[in-house]
Amino acid sequence: MANRKHIRPKSLLVLLALVILPILAACGTVDSAQTTINPQSDVAREIQGTYAFIFWVSVVVFVVVEGALVYAVFRYRRRPNSGMPKQTEGNMVLEVTWTIIPALILVAIAVPTWITIFRTDDIPAGSYIINVTGHQWWWEVEYPDVGLVTANEIRVPSDRTIGFHLETEDVLHSFWVPALFGKIDLVPGRTNTVWFTPDVETEGQMFLGQCVEFCGLSHANMRMRIFVDSPDDFAAWTAGLQSPAPEPSGVAATGHELFSSKGCTVCHSINGAYDAAGLFPAPNLTGFGSRVTLAGAIMENNATNLTAWLDNPEEIKPGNIMYKEAEAYKNPDLALTDADIGALVAYLQTLQ
Ligand code: CUA
Repeated sequence: MANRKHIRPKSLLVLLALVILPILAACGTVDSAQTTINPQSDVAREIQGTYAFIFWVSVVVFVVVEGALVYAVFRYRRRPNSGMPKQTEGNMVLEVTWTIIPALILVAIAVPTWITIFRTDDIPAGSYIINVTGHQWWWEVEYPDVGLVTANEIRVPSDRTIGFHLETEDVLHSFWVPALFGKIDLVPGRTNTVWFTPDVETEGQMFLGQCVEFCGLSHANMRMRIFVDSPDDFAAWTAGLQSPAPEPSGVAATGHELFSSKGCTVCHSINGAYDAAGLFPAPNLTGFGSRVTLAGAIMENNATNLTAWLDNPEEIKPGNIMYKEAEAYKNPDLALTDADIGALVAYLQTLQ
């Protein structure tokens, strides 16, 4: 045990902990879900390479500048009986030198940055294209080649370069899965792009991401997941969503009827079952039962959470359009009873 005599005052330790803990927390480990320093795609590695280069240049600058400072402080410190030091004013050589050196460092940083920007700019020809549309507060994900629309969970084949076309239905959002690609804004009236090729060893893995542009009340509840599937798994997934959902029976059949009688179909489409009028943008629920998460990928998709979500979506995701606009929440005549919610949960879970 430590000898108590040598321990500094408690308050100092607490202060030290307060300063150090947030710093350590920010560092995390390479296993941290959304760390930027564990790239797992070609594009993320390019960005990481640029970052590492700039980091080490900064380390050299730091060591040289601080070293010179510390040296000067000690070497030229005031000593007893040392009078007024020699006064100088202006030094052309010194000033030119300390202007040119930083300028050269900036050029050395700018050139690889530009190279990375241009190299990662355009989606390579032959990429697998996925259209992503930002909404307050969820991501619409469209696979144009197979005519599928889903939300928040993006499945990609591991053997292709993936290109995203990014648009927004309302305000600015920003699309980011740190391990796979850099941040890219979704700007009203524009189509932005980003792409990546997953590393071979990412097959079967899931990557976390989220909106990184403040976009309103539930900005923090606008998350996403990218699943890198084997080509076979990906083909099976798209085929599964293209085939009609099984005919619901029992309580799920009741839920199936409620889904339309309570007005859910005004906004939610389900391939082969309902085609929404599109009054308000809402996630397409095709294959909803096979999704891992719900409500903008903020919670696990299970019966308990889905019940809580349908019971009071406002509590889970403040400001969401469903709570504001859906008749089931606005119109007391259409309000959902516990039994209704149970039936809807049963029906939604059949959507595999
Ligand atoms: Cu969308 Cu923040």
